[in-house]
Amino acid sequence: MTVISPSILSSDFSNLEREIRSLDEAGADWIHIDVMDGNFVPNLTIGAPVIKALRPHTRLPFDVHLMIRDPLFYVPDFLKAGADILTFHLESDCDPDEVITAITKENTCQAAVSIKPDTPAHCVYPYLKRLKMVLVMSVEPGFGGQKFQMSCLDKIHDIREKAKEVNPSLLIQVDGGIDEKTIALCAEKGANAFAVGSTVFRAPDRKEAIARLKQAADQFTV
Ligand code: DX5
Ligand code: ZN
Repeated sequence: MTVISPSILSSDFSNLEREIRSLDEAGADWIHIDVMDGNFVPNLTIGAPVIKALRPHTRLPFDVHLMIRDPLFYVPDFLKAGADILTFHLESDCDPDEVITAITKENTCQAAVSIKPDTPAHCVYPYLKRLKMVLVMSVEPGFGGQKFQMSCLDKIHDIREKAKEVNPSLLIQVDGGIDEKTIALCAEKGANAFAVGSTVFRAPDRKEAIARLKQAADQFTV
C-alpha cells in the first residue's frame, strides 16, 4: 500500500478550503502540511491556527511536517489543531525522546522524525521503535519545486533494513522532488509514503496524477 500525501505548500493559499476538498476528491490518502518558522528554514508558511481552520473541511488525516527550531514548545498547539501525524526534525533543537512523548501522550496523534539530506540514516535508529514514520528529505527543506537528490535512496534502504528488525510496520516517507520516476526509485528501496507538491498541483488532472504516482510505487510496496 502506498500513501500519497499532497503538500499544500504548492496550493493556492487564497483558497485553501477549496484546495483541501479538491485533494480529497482526487483520492489523496493524507494532506501534507508544511510548517516553517523562518528560523529552522529560510521560509515562513502556516501555523496551528490555519490547520485548525482547515480541520472541519476533510476527514483525511493531517500529516504535519514541522520545520521549526523548537518543536517541543509547539506540540500542544498542533495536537489541539487536529494533527494526526506530527513530524519533527532531528536537526532541530530538541531531545527527540521528549518530543515523541509529548506528541503521543494523548493517543490522538502519531510521531514521526525527519532527517535532512546531510543527516545519516543511523541517527534515526534509536527512535524507530517509538515511531509511526520516518521522513527522509530528498531536498533541503524550505521550498517546493526542487530537484530530487539521489543520495536519499541508500538511506531509505538502510532505514528499511533496520526497521525490519525493530519496527516492521514503520512507514518511510520521502519528501521533495517526487514524480512518477523518483517515486518508483524510492519505493524500490522500501519507502511507502510520499509527500508530493509540484507533481500533483501542476497536473491538469489531480486525480489522474495521484493515481499514476500510486501505480508507479505500488509495484514495489506491499
Ligand atoms: C519542502 C517541503 C515539501 C514540498 C515538496 O521543504 O517539505 O513538502 O512541498 O514539494 P515538491 O514535491 O514540489 O518538491
Ligand atoms: Zn514537507
